[in-house]
Amino acid sequence: MEHLALQELEAEAKRCLDPKIADYIAGGADDELTVRANRAAYARVGLVPRVLTGAGQPDLRVTLFGQTASMPVLISPTAFHKLAHEEGECATARAARRAGVILIASMASTVALEQVAAAAGKTWFQLYLQPDLGWTEDLVRRAEAAGCTALVITVDSPVFGHRSRDARNGFNDLPAGMRCENLRETVGSTSRVRSIVFSPELSWKELSWLRERTALKLVLKGLAHPADAKLAVACGVDGILVSNHGGRQLDTVPSTLDLLPPIVEAVDGAIPVFLDGGIRRGTDVVKALALGATAVGVGRPVLWALAMDGEQGVLDMLETLRAETERALALTGFRCPGQLNTGILRMQPAEEPWWN
Ligand SMILES: Cc1cc2nc3c(=O)[nH]c(=O)nc-3n(C[C@H](O)[C@H](O)[C@H](O)COP(=O)(O)O)c2cc1C
Repeated sequence: MEHLALQELEAEAKRCLDPKIADYIAGGADDELTVRANRAAYARVGLVPRVLTGAGQPDLRVTLFGQTASMPVLISPTAFHKLAHEEGECATARAARRAGVILIASMASTVALEQVAAAAGKTWFQLYLQPDLGWTEDLVRRAEAAGCTALVITVDSPVFGHRSRDARNGFNDLPAGMRCENLRETVGSTSRVRSIVFSPELSWKELSWLRERTALKLVLKGLAHPADAKLAVACGVDGILVSNHGGRQLDTVPSTLDLLPPIVEAVDGAIPVFLDGGIRRGTDVVKALALGATAVGVGRPVLWALAMDGEQGVLDMLETLRAETERALALTGFRCPGQLNTGILRMQPAEEPWWN
């Protein structure tokens, strides 16, 4: 049976999710303009294939920080997988392993990172830097010990975005019995659970502090401005994940596909640039890669697939995206992701660059 396309998963998943949870997953900040922009951007870019290239069978493998992934698709970090399925992040992690992709494990997970990393194999750990640096360092050491190869520092969240749907639904807490397992700490004999602190005090100073304390690769997630991309390179960061948090933080941030080219230009090949937000089709993957992304991430489709059919659902979703990406690559006349370039893109007439 043919599997559902990624954007079809939302409607199906809704049938097995509490409406408040479905809204938590699908929703974005304020008027959700950025959520829509992320998708709309792909319709504005056309693919103009090359023919008779003799490319041969597509080979999607990519090597990221020395690790080979079976395709240039990452699982972006999303919080609280037990909201979608009782096995939570364990099911997602097993699917990632079976598909041979890298899982970016969210700090806000309902299964402890050690368990997630053991199940996934190739794991990067997503971290919100906490103002309590001692505690942040403890968590970094746990990620190192668990075998994670990179830290993905989310920098688009000095405060929490305003999620209109959650506000309307009064959805502001995890259901009883579920908690953020990475935030448990034991003080003497009493065990308590912290909550994640979003702090507007954090700056490049804390990032430099982290750079000095870990040999793990550092990827900054949520960068939008090319000037910040340059600061990131100067700070010794190893990669940038261009992201607007799936439109859940600052509304009216442009689509990530629009943000990507100026960042690729600013970085000038010094470090890899990744992208997430609105990736739903193999042609989307090909367009982002042609514009300079080394790999892309998927967020919401993972949770929809998980809600529908647990580990198998996530695996089916990833295999659908793989088949579509292979097909799009072959139809544009290429064999490997690294060969893609802007020559096959027909962009809507460019506006004045907004970033100067
Ligand atoms: C339900 C949900 C939870 C998320 N939780 C996190 C998180 O804990 N950390 C983080 O850095 N990003 C988080 N994100 C953002 C994703 O990593 C990613 O940037 C975004 O979902 C990509 O867009 P897409 O959903 O259109 O694929 C979350 C997104 C969603 C939808």
